[in-house]
Amino acid sequence: MACVKALAESPGLTSIPSTYNFTQNQHDHEAVSEIDPEDSIPVIDFSLLTSSSPDQRSKVIQDLGKACRDWGFFTVINHNVPEKLMEMTMDSCQRFFNLTEEEKREFAGKHVLDPIRCGTSFNASVEKVFFWRDFIKVLVHPEFHSPNKPVGFSEISLEYCKRIRQVARELLKGISESLGLEFCYIERAMNLDSGLQILIANLYPPCPQPELAMGMPPHSDHGLLTLLTQNGICGLQLLHNGKWVNVNAVPNSFLVNTGDHIEILSNGKYKSVVHRAVVNNKMTRVSLAIANGPSLDTVVEPSKELIERQSEAPAYIGIKYKDFLELQQSNQLDNKSVLDRVRV
Ligand code: OGA
Ligand code: NI
Repeated sequence: MACVKALAESPGLTSIPSTYNFTQNQHDHEAVSEIDPEDSIPVIDFSLLTSSSPDQRSKVIQDLGKACRDWGFFTVINHNVPEKLMEMTMDSCQRFFNLTEEEKREFAGKHVLDPIRCGTSFNASVEKVFFWRDFIKVLVHPEFHSPNKPVGFSEISLEYCKRIRQVARELLKGISESLGLEFCYIERAMNLDSGLQILIANLYPPCPQPELAMGMPPHSDHGLLTLLTQNGICGLQLLHNGKWVNVNAVPNSFLVNTGDHIEILSNGKYKSVVHRAVVNNKMTRVSLAIANGPSLDTVVEPSKELIERQSEAPAYIGIKYKDFLELQQSNQLDNKSVLDRVRV
């Protein structure tokens, strides 16, 4: 299937092909709220998490727990990842999308666990309506992969993803403690040393009819934590208290969300929040999501320590991460999420 970039660049394009018209089948462009400044996405100061002052650390862990409970999304500032490295990684992704169609075709994977997979839409093999998005997904841990072009992509993404793993690990320590678990609980239970990490770059070219199309459908992320950055152009929306709200990213920060496997592990205390990406008719948007998950052979289930302590019944059945991913890719879900399938 041709990429959206080529379609968007066709001369004189003033309307979208009907196969991209998202509103025919689903009434999905309801009123969207701006985030109430009194009630906006929480900001977590990463430097306090690594602080030697126990008071500062316990305060930020409380904030982190509240952010996970109330929003499932938070902005991480003072994260120590060099701004220059963030810029270079974003630039490498942009240069990847600028390769010719033919060059990109070489990386057209099919299966969810193909090490490099470049494509368009969301899950084009099962979709009837396509999404206004091109993407590349690269498995970067436990084994590092990279397309061999553009120049520098491999070196830059290797370094960037390594830095992101350090940030994710530190956040997961804080999240463990916020649940009343030992700080290394999640990294041990999820076998983080061989955890799956995926680099996902998304390209949303200008769309002549943005109100009819959708960049990425409503979905929740699998795995533990996704760290997102974008090229300064907004488009992400999340479902908060039943309303779609626009997310404004803070420069030089990460937008982090807790994934399906945090929801399972926390027995539903922390939710994997549904989000989507809308498109605009003026500027190309690029986003870069780094998904950090358990190792593929980890069976993820509600934490026994947690449910025993609180005398709760497990609200999810255990499932191996690899099986979860394969089920998600399959066309056997009739529009349900895998999370719905594993809920008791
Ligand atoms: C994702 C995602 C949102 C965006 O890659 O899972 O939700 O803004 N991306 O591109
Ligand atoms: Ni997502």
